Amino acid sequence: MAKIRSSHVCQSCGHVAMAWTGKCPGCGEWNTLVETAPAPARSGAKRSGPKAAAGRPVALREVTSVEVSRLATRIGEFDRVLGGGIVPGSLVLLGGSPGIGKSTITGMALANLQQDGVDCLYVSGEESASQVRLRAERLGAPALEVRVLAENSLETILATIESEKPAVVVIDSIQTLHNADLSGAPGSVGQVREAANRLADAAKRLDVAMVLVGHVTKDGSLAGPRVLEHLVDCVLQFDGEKERTYRTLRAIKNRFGATSEVGVFEMRSGGLTEVTDPSARFVEEATGSTGSVVLASMEGTRPVLVEVQALVNPSELEIPRRVVNGIDRNRLSMVLAVLARHGGVGLGTSDVFVNVVGGVRIDEPGGDLAVAIAVASAQRGRPAAGRDGRPIACFGELGLTGDVRFVGHADRRVAEASKFGLAPVVGPPSGGNLPGMAPSATVRQALKTVFGGRQGRAEAA
Ligand code: TYD
Ligand code: MG
Repeated sequence: MAKIRSSHVCQSCGHVAMAWTGKCPGCGEWNTLVETAPAPARSGAKRSGPKAAAGRPVALREVTSVEVSRLATRIGEFDRVLGGGIVPGSLVLLGGSPGIGKSTITGMALANLQQDGVDCLYVSGEESASQVRLRAERLGAPALEVRVLAENSLETILATIESEKPAVVVIDSIQTLHNADLSGAPGSVGQVREAANRLADAAKRLDVAMVLVGHVTKDGSLAGPRVLEHLVDCVLQFDGEKERTYRTLRAIKNRFGATSEVGVFEMRSGGLTEVTDPSARFVEEATGSTGSVVLASMEGTRPVLVEVQALVNPSELEIPRRVVNGIDRNRLSMVLAVLARHGGVGLGTSDVFVNVVGGVRIDEPGGDLAVAIAVASAQRGRPAAGRDGRPIACFGELGLTGDVRFVGHADRRVAEASKFGLAPVVGPPSGGNLPGMAPSATVRQALKTVFGGRQGRAEAA
């Protein structure tokens, strides 16, 4: 039997067990034991008293500031989300569900970097070199210049990085790496964390920028990459529906830039193409029909118009269905409760479906009013359209008291909607008196603005 040199450490109480058990013998918590590699033995290390020399704290003013240089991948949306490009020696975690295009975007980025004379290495633990080549062929000739290493062994990968000294390395994916010191399967929390720790160490030591690709399931439940978020400099999340063509890339954490930036891509036959004007794409298809409204949302510093659709149907189930795509389910429950209580729109016996068109995900509270108007429109069977039949736009957060609340960048949202000729723009009154805007203090008033005087009070009963 192979000798196992690792131990299992409880993440909750620190109890060290020699074998994995479901329940920690120390504190009784379940599923907290994680396999951990032994710390490298230090010669003559005795754990008694502080033996290390004391450090010397200095005032921040005296710390020499370093100019952060960037390696531009020439994929504009990718660079923007990163804060201007890849920072040398930094660690980026790129998460996303399988099939979303993580290998594609990293392959494209490396192709561009290699073309610009930056030494790159693509480590594939998932696919064979020939499979990687097949993808590269679709991406074009420069992608074929990138060097590839099809390998799972963490030791081999580290040794290769050490000897080749590339400037940028992509590890695709972190869940496939295997450290022989640990008995756990690749992808287990222990393996993933150990691999990331060792890679992070190499990245800083050798000044190699690394992009770690990690699979995260839709609900983010997979423990693997989540445990790495504190370890890396930048966490990027690739979102979108696999079957749809639109993909959004957003920074969840970024030590070298803003976290609010979002890049929009479209999957085409030749790889991912940037969508530099997403509003045009999304609004083009908005028809102003019943159950549809345009949300003037902010994706980072950029206003984006997206269509929010709702369908309301009498339910055959005891507990009616609430199905969402692109918004949070709890957020819908809240909006429905506010609609029932303060908007006179009762949906207790109806199935409600809400969809954000194009596979876009709305992560800001400013989407509440759009959901409310789309649902109210669907329930009443009346379109939320302006005088010219074009869809109206809206934004705003809903308070539990039925008020429409302030959200940031009202001026830019309204300007974006006006640019595409959407009027009026229904939103919170605190945005100031912007031209083209119809301020509404409450959800009731907003519905009145959209659907006219008749409130349909009977529905409230
Ligand atoms: P991939 O990057 O392999 O996804 P991930 O690494 O996140 O699992 O690619 C995802 C999908 O994209 C795959 O089903 C094929 C498709 N695709 C295209 O449509 N066009 C292309 O040019 C490429 C390379 C892939
Ligand atoms: Mg892949």
